[in-house]
Amino acid sequence: MSDKWIPPSQQRRGLDLAALGVPPGRYVHPDVTDFLVAPGGSREGATRIDAYLRHEADLDNLQPAEVEFVRRHFLKCAEEQRQKCIAHFESKVPRRYSSARPTAIASAWAQSVVTNPDDTRSLLIVGPTGTGKTHYAYAVLRAIAETGRTTGWAAYTAADLYAALRPRTGRDSEATFETIADTDVLFVDDLGAAKLTEWTEEVTYRLINHRYEQCRPGIFTSNVPPTQLRDALGERIASRLTEMCERVALKGDDRRKGMAA
Ligand SMILES: Nc1ncnc2c1ncn2[C@@H]1O[C@H](COP(=O)(O)OP(=O)(O)OP(=O)(O)O)[C@@H](O)[C@H]1O
Ligand SMILES: [Mg+2]
Repeated sequence: MSDKWIPPSQQRRGLDLAALGVPPGRYVHPDVTDFLVAPGGSREGATRIDAYLRHEADLDNLQPAEVEFVRRHFLKCAEEQRQKCIAHFESKVPRRYSSARPTAIASAWAQSVVTNPDDTRSLLIVGPTGTGKTHYAYAVLRAIAETGRTTGWAAYTAADLYAALRPRTGRDSEATFETIADTDVLFVDDLGAAKLTEWTEEVTYRLINHRYEQCRPGIFTSNVPPTQLRDALGERIASRLTEMCERVALKGDDRRKGMAA
């Protein structure tokens, strides 16, 4: 027997939701008395379900109707959680990009982010003006919401990011920096759009370097052609972005021209 003391809060095991075919999450347990009126319901079945939920019996001890009762309950919870994530996304996405829908590649990236964030490379979406970089990035954030996993995200244009981080009397810009730097998924739009100053280079470097060191996934967009990234962002930032990002190159004409009345 191990003599290591484990606090009771860490001794609790979760149910094996994968065995039930339910996406991971923290869901409330079903009311076992509902099984009495469910298809195939019985008092003995409710007792077995209760034992399973208390970790006193394995899933194998349940009859098929009992497994189905538990499975249906957790699938309903998972769907409710997914709808909440999508509603949260829709409340935050700028109106122009609310119709952005993920491609299969964007959905695969999102799945990787929620299951394996430390091993998922960031995205650097590049392309000329109006080719759809911001649209693509929001579609990726929607894909994360559609997984139903509660992954935090924040979106800033580089200009708004600098405005949020600029030291001001009465505001703790270092605390703001830490909150932004530690966001699960950080989207920074239009990197390199503004002329670099010593201060913006330092802030961008600290932010990118923090995400780089912590292996945290992000989404970055830039109009700057790859060959000019070093000049536009500085050597240290460009070098880290190159290593930590998958590049998504968008081509074509400025879509805004086609939309002009
Ligand atoms: N795949 C798409 N389907 C439909 N509309 C799109 C798509 N991609 C972009 N758009 C639309 O085209 C316009 C330009 O897209 P967006 O703003 O994403 O371009 P951008 O590359 O970010 O431009 P900029 O470099 O100026 O920031 C927007 O109105 C956007 O909604
Ligand atoms: Mg844009």
